[in-house]
Amino acid sequence: MRELLTKLEQTTALDRVGDRLQRAVQGTLRSQRIRDLLHGVWLGHPLHPAMVQVPVGAWISAAIVDLMPGQRRAATALVAVGTVSAVPAAVAGLNDWASLARDQRRIGLVHAAANTIGLTLYASSLAARLNGRHGMGKALAYLGLSAASAGAYLGGHLAYKQGAQVSQSISELHLISDGWHPVGDLSSLPQRQLVTREIDDVSVILYRHGDDVTVMLERCPHQSGPLGEGEVQEIDGHACVVCPWHGSAFRLNGGEVVHGPSGNDQVVLPTRVVNGRLEARLP
Ligand code: FES
Repeated sequence: MRELLTKLEQTTALDRVGDRLQRAVQGTLRSQRIRDLLHGVWLGHPLHPAMVQVPVGAWISAAIVDLMPGQRRAATALVAVGTVSAVPAAVAGLNDWASLARDQRRIGLVHAAANTIGLTLYASSLAARLNGRHGMGKALAYLGLSAASAGAYLGGHLAYKQGAQVSQSISELHLISDGWHPVGDLSSLPQRQLVTREIDDVSVILYRHGDDVTVMLERCPHQSGPLGEGEVQEIDGHACVVCPWHGSAFRLNGGEVVHGPSGNDQVVLPTRVVNGRLEARLP
């Protein structure tokens, strides 16, 4: 299975379909507000993994209820809930998928294909049940669960092995030792400009506004872009750093993500000034 997944990650033949689908998704979901909503910016972490809990839970419950006598209506209701709730979950997933790296998009494409087959089988199961063909409905639902399980397996690989939509910056925290670390003289820091420094070999960006200084991890949580090379923009009245790679924006005062594709906030380190020297530590 590991070899198969590695092969899939390297299968360039998937790119023709993948690139077309990516353009279609980006052309359809043009509104930044809708993209941010689907990325989970308002939630502070990706929305798609949270949304899939509803169809997966409903479909697994239907599979159990289908084994019990006299539970046709309950099973039909569960299949209906799973089928309807899978649609917005899939849209959120496609929105995330369109900003992934190429090898991640290849696995994501197969993940989406398996789930689309699963969804089609469940929709057919629902239609059969509503027409009184419960035996057929059960069979289609078990086939749908098999396809959705394959999709879930690939989704797990995408998230946990390939790190899709997982915060890429958080692991940097484990490289910083405990205690306060000097990062420079406050007086030497320019106003309202990004400055890059290192703490225990971990790159951080500094942004001074008056006597307030933000110290933030430099590595973008989305896909490790260099925030130190990004622009500072005022968004909704807050100074934000915009990632140069895919445009995720994070508030310099607090690290909250304000625009995706990152669904994760950025880490800001607590600071203090001792005898004019700026220091930062782990949160
Ligand atoms: S790396 Fe993608 S937005 Fe920063």
